[in-house]
Amino acid sequence: MSLSKVIAIANQKGGVGKTTTAINLSCALGILEQNVLLIDADPQANATSGLGIITKNIEFSTVNIFQDDANLDRCILDTHSPNLKIIPGSIKLAEIEINVKNPNLNRLKTALDVLKNKFDFIIIDCSPSLGYLTLNSFVAADSIIIPVQCEFYALDGLRKLLSTIKSVRKSFNINLTIEGILMTMYDNRLNHNSHIINELKTHFEDLIFKTIIKRNVSLSEAPSFGTSVFDYKMNSEGSTNYLNLSREIMKNQTSSKQKSLGKKIPQILKDTEETILLDPSVKERNLENYKTFSLKDKNFDKLIGCTKKEVIVQLGLVYNDLHSDIWMYHITDKVSLIKKNYLYIYFDKNKVNLIKLRRFKYS
Ligand SMILES: Nc1ncnc2c1ncn2[C@@H]1O[C@H](COP(=O)(O)OP(=O)(O)OP(=O)(O)O)[C@@H](O)[C@H]1O
Ligand SMILES: [Mg+2]
Repeated sequence: MSLSKVIAIANQKGGVGKTTTAINLSCALGILEQNVLLIDADPQANATSGLGIITKNIEFSTVNIFQDDANLDRCILDTHSPNLKIIPGSIKLAEIEINVKNPNLNRLKTALDVLKNKFDFIIIDCSPSLGYLTLNSFVAADSIIIPVQCEFYALDGLRKLLSTIKSVRKSFNINLTIEGILMTMYDNRLNHNSHIINELKTHFEDLIFKTIIKRNVSLSEAPSFGTSVFDYKMNSEGSTNYLNLSREIMKNQTSSKQKSLGKKIPQILKDTEETILLDPSVKERNLENYKTFSLKDKNFDKLIGCTKKEVIVQLGLVYNDLHSDIWMYHITDKVSLIKKNYLYIYFDKNKVNLIKLRRFKYS
């Protein structure tokens, strides 16, 4: 069985955080040493521009997939983020969505079957519609992430989305699962946000990701600088949230998982609650490094003068960029659980020349 996984990020409701999730989840998985391909399947091409790619200069894009281009390698572009490539979107996708000449719901799947073995994860950013492009994504996907904004109308449209998924499962893709419902833009200052989460939990039980994406200004600012939140502000809550989400997804990948839907919504997974069985040995090594570590365990001054390689041996690369000269680690301090401690390591000519411990209150 192939180890790669295709995940579509979809909700026909607009502005719920699909693209923010597609960009930052893809980058986070890449930072955690997974090979990732992001496919921008939205004519708005926000995932493409959000990663700093100027859309008007693009020659080859997701459009080529839908035109049965045999040479898809030329559509795959590098990004500035580690281990992340992208097939960019284009406004021309709108034409395909509205005016498709030879409709074929297997078109994207056929293309991805060829590319799949080169990547650990393929993430598809869907448009806010349940049209031809999104249906193609559902047929190609192994699972779907449904971002849902924490607001009163959160359940709006979910029934339609779930019954569409059910139909696709029945007719085209019996293996399609729901990776999870992702609560986005959560604001813990607003009482109704936690009410909404509780309500969704009664409907969907364990289908909801443990990771909740909080409302975070860095997440909304990063795209205008053409970067993910990790390049924009590594030590933001948004970075932490999306790293946690990617760890949760990697963990799900290594453990068998059964998911079911609550009673009030069509029980689309009930008939075949298949498990995702993957060889755990291959991915498990990655997860080990990402535990936080205790202040007591290490005397960080010893790191002064160490090379990047020596620091990696002692602390792991964790989520740092090998090419950056400032690395950051999240460390635990049992004395003060309400504070976050960060170890900053500054390099000069590949050697550690400064170490700082910083502490932030949880917001
Ligand atoms: N967690 C967050 N905190 C703050 N702002 C956010 C967060 N998530 C998304 N946003 C902002 O909300 C807006 C909508 O997000 P995004 O573009 O990701 O939604 P979308 O579902 O892809 O929209 P569309 O349906 O148009 O494709 C954007 O301005 C984005 O920057
Ligand atoms: Mg979008």
